[in-house]
Amino acid sequence: MKKEALAPIGIFDSGIGGLTVAHAIRQLLPHENMMYFGDTAHLPYGDKSEAAIQAYSIKIADVLLKKGCKVIVIACNSASSASYELLKEYVRKDAHILNVIDPMVELVTRLYEGKVVGLIGTKRTVQSGIYTNKINEANKGIRLQSLATPLLAPMIEEGFFNNQISHEIIAQYLEDPILKDIEALVLACTHYPLIKKEISSFYQGRVDVLDSAVVVAEALQNYLSENMLLNTEGEPSQHFFVSDYTEAFEASTRLFFQEKVTLERHPLWN
Ligand code: DGL
Repeated sequence: MKKEALAPIGIFDSGIGGLTVAHAIRQLLPHENMMYFGDTAHLPYGDKSEAAIQAYSIKIADVLLKKGCKVIVIACNSASSASYELLKEYVRKDAHILNVIDPMVELVTRLYEGKVVGLIGTKRTVQSGIYTNKINEANKGIRLQSLATPLLAPMIEEGFFNNQISHEIIAQYLEDPILKDIEALVLACTHYPLIKKEISSFYQGRVDVLDSAVVVAEALQNYLSENMLLNTEGEPSQHFFVSDYTEAFEASTRLFFQEKVTLERHPLWN
């Protein structure tokens, strides 16, 4: 194994939603060292401007590069849509950048040729039109129907899921005529795996519900193995940084990562 393989994987999100992606990475690549950064001081990203998200993303990339990360995974759709191209330019040869959008686009264009596919996500992600553009570029006759669902991420962060309130909010959104006649629904926000079961039961098996956590972990695995950067030995280390610490964030992390996590405070600006 090359020495570079020991370097950590950097993962970031606006907050703790990206822990769903971190969890899938931990499951698939159990020896990788991991540095997670949740920008809890600036959450949510979903209703921020592109320029603001780009500024935060650059600062976070600096933190992760200083910690020697070999790859940076943008585990947030809003940041992937706003900052991926910029971060690739900025980071250049210092680390490889992965986003959560391309692996999902690859999956959708492979499986749903000629079909109608729905998408839900934050305002930033939906307004960017990035999924529509990338899916159209693939020229597979797929019609993507996108709906911004801004209440869902804060609802989940407040622990409201699998209950009466979340069922009603989810149903209100999914009954929107724009999502009529879809064969699959893309969960274009890394918070949404926590409500995947509720969404699936709304559709009662009629619609495939697609979340990106596993496909992103697989894309990372492919990149690492193609570049001989897979860490295949030893106990991994994992660190979880947040730009603003509260006990409530720490308590919620268990829901997203499925094990107890200790958060370390790391302000982006001093
Ligand atoms: N997890 C973020 C995403 O995937 C959404 C949460 C936010 O608005 O910050 O887009």
